[in-house]
Amino acid sequence: MKTSFLALFSHQTQGGLRERLCNTLRQAIANGHLQHAQQLPASRQLAIDLSLSRVTVEAAYAQLESEGYLQRQGGRGTFVSIRMPPPKPKSRVACSPRFSQRGQQVLATGGCQDPPFPHAFAAGSPELRAFPHAQWRRITHQVQRSLGSGVMGYGDPLGLPSLRQAVADYLALSRGVRCSAEQVVMLTSSQQALQLLALMFLDAGDEVWLEEPGYPGARNAFLAAGARCRAMPLDAEGAMPLSGSAKLVYLTPAHHYPTGTAMSLARRLHWLAWARQHDSWLIEDDYDSEFHYEDRPAPALQGVETESRVICLGTFSKTLFPSLRLAWMVVPPQLVQALGRARSVMDGHSAMLPQAITAEFLQQGHFASHLRLMRQLYRSRRDCLLEQINTRLQPWLQPLPAAGGLQLTVQLLQGDEAHLTEQAKARGLLLPRLSPLYAGEAQQAGWLLGFAALTPGEIISACDKLVTLLSHDAKTSR
Ligand SMILES: Cc1ncc(COP(=O)(O)O)c(C=O)c1O
Repeated sequence: MKTSFLALFSHQTQGGLRERLCNTLRQAIANGHLQHAQQLPASRQLAIDLSLSRVTVEAAYAQLESEGYLQRQGGRGTFVSIRMPPPKPKSRVACSPRFSQRGQQVLATGGCQDPPFPHAFAAGSPELRAFPHAQWRRITHQVQRSLGSGVMGYGDPLGLPSLRQAVADYLALSRGVRCSAEQVVMLTSSQQALQLLALMFLDAGDEVWLEEPGYPGARNAFLAAGARCRAMPLDAEGAMPLSGSAKLVYLTPAHHYPTGTAMSLARRLHWLAWARQHDSWLIEDDYDSEFHYEDRPAPALQGVETESRVICLGTFSKTLFPSLRLAWMVVPPQLVQALGRARSVMDGHSAMLPQAITAEFLQQGHFASHLRLMRQLYRSRRDCLLEQINTRLQPWLQPLPAAGGLQLTVQLLQGDEAHLTEQAKARGLLLPRLSPLYAGEAQQAGWLLGFAALTPGEIISACDKLVTLLSHDAKTSR
């Protein structure tokens, strides 16, 4: 029992010392800070903590025992013996917060919602049950043994050098990114990368272009900065530039979110020339590019040119696990120091121990093996979901091509998306909706069905529920 009751005791000003201590303990019990069967500090310790004589503490304990609050058990200590009903929440006088304009813009976005785990059909969830826990544990022990307090102090806002190097090597080999370790900035999430870029590049009213439909996390980060977000239409080659100019353009070239379209080489070259001409920055969110099930995805847009105006970002949320809170951003050399300083203002740096463990995990080759295994697992799960849709859900759902990723986007061919989503929720089925991903009027209703975190059995039983729901809806709306 570590509590010293110092603050509570110092608020008691009425009566002698024994009475003040009795009131302190009665109040702690009544407020639920001390609960039934909880042990109190030894009288000697409490006397030291509160600068009282031990006799006073003994007398207070004895009095509260006689009142039935405490019980003294010879040789074991003093315990709370009374059971109090849980305290009622105090009603406070509500003062209405006066948020800044920026704060109000943040709230107006509605926030970002992360999927609950594991749950059919939460989108973007990796399979955490197949994570190599034993290896991770072994590396954690190894890192703690070898680095000890070396990873317990403050760290570099740009990230742990060994992890920046490991990420640079991985990106060069697997994604064709051209960068040195110095250009890699380690962050908590892709979301933080977007936030940081918005902070550093956008004044209120500045224009940012985003794909339509597109990733709401990006739109939220830019809206929260007071930017004017404009929606770019897509064709079969990817997003198309609008007329005019934008400070930032957010793109998902490897695998458009959420339709899965890969940007053509011609369109990539067009964007690179456009960015040079307009003195703009292209933000390449290389999300999910690790999970490809057909041909290898085209290398990163960042690697196409040496002097590129591309800031490339990616996350370990999907490839390792989301609560790791580690992502990276590869930035041109002239931005590195400024972004490091901005990061230091935001939240200092990412936690060092997870960075050191992740660096080892990559360097020892476990990351590559894990990705290989997950790719096979997710491919078989995607195939299972596709088969279910093609054989049982054809009248209602049309899958979009899903060459990669953790979820399958389906178009809803009949029925009302919002209504069906609510109905599904009541049956324990989560159906992430497609239409809210349009900033303007939704062009297509549908869902993003996450499959990666579900076993074939779980996919089939979730599809059973979906078939029942959709057939019932079709019957009742006839
Ligand atoms: C396109 C896209 N980028 C980024 C993320 C999330 O990354 P993080 O957890 O690092 O913010 C997601 C999550 O679903 C995503 O869909």
